[in-house]
Formats: sequence, C-alpha cells, structure tokens
Amino acid sequence: MIMDGNGRWAKKRFLPRVAGHAQGFERVRNIVEVCLDRGIEYLTLFAFSSENWRRPQDEVSRLMGLFVMALESQVTHMHRNGVCLHVVGDLSRFDARLRELIREGEERTRDNNRLTLTICANYGGRWDVLNAVNSWLRDNPGAPAINEEDLAPYLSLPYAPEPDLFIRTGGEQRISNFLLWQLAYSELYFTDTLWPDFDAAQLDLAIASYRKRERRFGRTSEQLLER
Ligand code: IPE
Ligand code: IPE
Ligand code: MG
Repeated sequence: MIMDGNGRWAKKRFLPRVAGHAQGFERVRNIVEVCLDRGIEYLTLFAFSSENWRRPQDEVSRLMGLFVMALESQVTHMHRNGVCLHVVGDLSRFDARLRELIREGEERTRDNNRLTLTICANYGGRWDVLNAVNSWLRDNPGAPAINEEDLAPYLSLPYAPEPDLFIRTGGEQRISNFLLWQLAYSELYFTDTLWPDFDAAQLDLAIASYRKRERRFGRTSEQLLER
C-alpha cells in the first residue's frame, strides 16, 4: 500500500501536515488489526520514499520522530498478535537510535508468522533493483550475466511472495518508485480516499475489487478455464 494523502487531509482541516502524519499512524495501527482479522498474511506499507528527503526538514524530522514513537509503542503489541516485522530500504541514512529500534523489533518478532508486516522506509524501487544487482555482483565476481532467479534472493523482500494487490490512497495514479520489480503482475487499485480516512470498509472495497479481477499472466481467459 502507498499510504498517501496525509498532508491534504491535514490541510482540509487547517492543521499542520504533521497532524496528518500522526493521524496516518493511527490508520496504520488500525489497518494492521483489520488485516489480522481478514487473514491477510503479507502487508507491505510505503512509509518513506528515497525521494521524501526532499521535503521540508521540519516535516522529515517529525516523520522520523513518529517512526521512533511507533516502534517504541507498537512492537510489544505486534509481537503478541503474531506479527513479524521487517523494515526495508536504505537504513544507513537513519540515526543510530532508529536503526537500533528497527533491529530490536525485527529480532523480537522474527519467529512470528501470522502476518508479515513490511515497512518500506527510505525505500525506492530503483534503489532495490540496483542494490540487489550490486550485491549479487559482489558475490559473483566475473559472472557473465544475471537472471531473474539469481536476483530474487537479493531483493528487499525475498521472504514475501509478489504482491497480489497494490493499493494507493490519496487519488494519485502512479507508483512513485515503490516496488518496481515486485509489482510486475500485481493488481492495481487506486482510491481518492486520503490515507487518514482509509478504514476497514475501504480495505474491504479494495479486496472486493481484487476478487473480481481475472489474473491471466499472459494467458487467454479460455486457457484459464481449462486449467
Ligand atoms: C503520505 O502523505 C505520507 C508520506 C509520504 C510520508 P503525504 O504527506 O504525501 O500527503 P499529501 O500527498 O501531501 O496529501
Ligand atoms: C509516495 O507518496 C511515498 C509514500 C507514501 C511514502 P508521495 O506523496 O511522496 O508521492 P508523490 O511525490 O506524490 O509521487
Ligand atoms: Mg503525497
């Protein structure tokens, strides 16, 4: 999910953008509960893109603060609910405290398997692909070429299947450098609902839309019926 629209949600209420992010965090908490309830096994949330550093410094530092607060307050609760937490992206740019909280959270929840929750932070789809290729090259010096199967374990989410459903809130119909490789055959769903308003009913609408889709993966409808 691309959780977009926090700023506009706040603006409509004459609140500062950070108030939208705080409300957005409440939505994350709620949507995780809803996913647990619906039996969804993998949830991947875009929290901060490689390009979001371009925002005003004050907004960036408030987002980092929110991230720290979220980890401090939620990991125990997530652990009790069987959530396995992963945070993916170029974490080297985060400060030591945040990196440590991420490490602890991942370590503590690593054996859980009810819901695998991935937070993409300082993540970019292009970064992911290049990082994977470069890591593979380091492990395979002098190799003539790389193929899809070689790359898969080097990408950021090797533990997760490719997403069935992509959801973007906030009305924009673009990928904004989210999971470029992994979204190759995902079903796309866009809604005008702003992220702080995205609730259980909204998620159910997205899932209902997904259920009506026919995923052909290049085949014909007739072939799918034969299988
Ligand atoms: C998404 O909401 C949250 C992050 C990118 C961190 P925005 O802050 O992009 O909200 P809009 O798009 O300005 O409304
Ligand atoms: C995408 O939202 C990134 C996240 C939700 C974290 P943006 O608001 O940054 O995307 P653009 O700039 O509108 O494409
Ligand atoms: Mg936005």
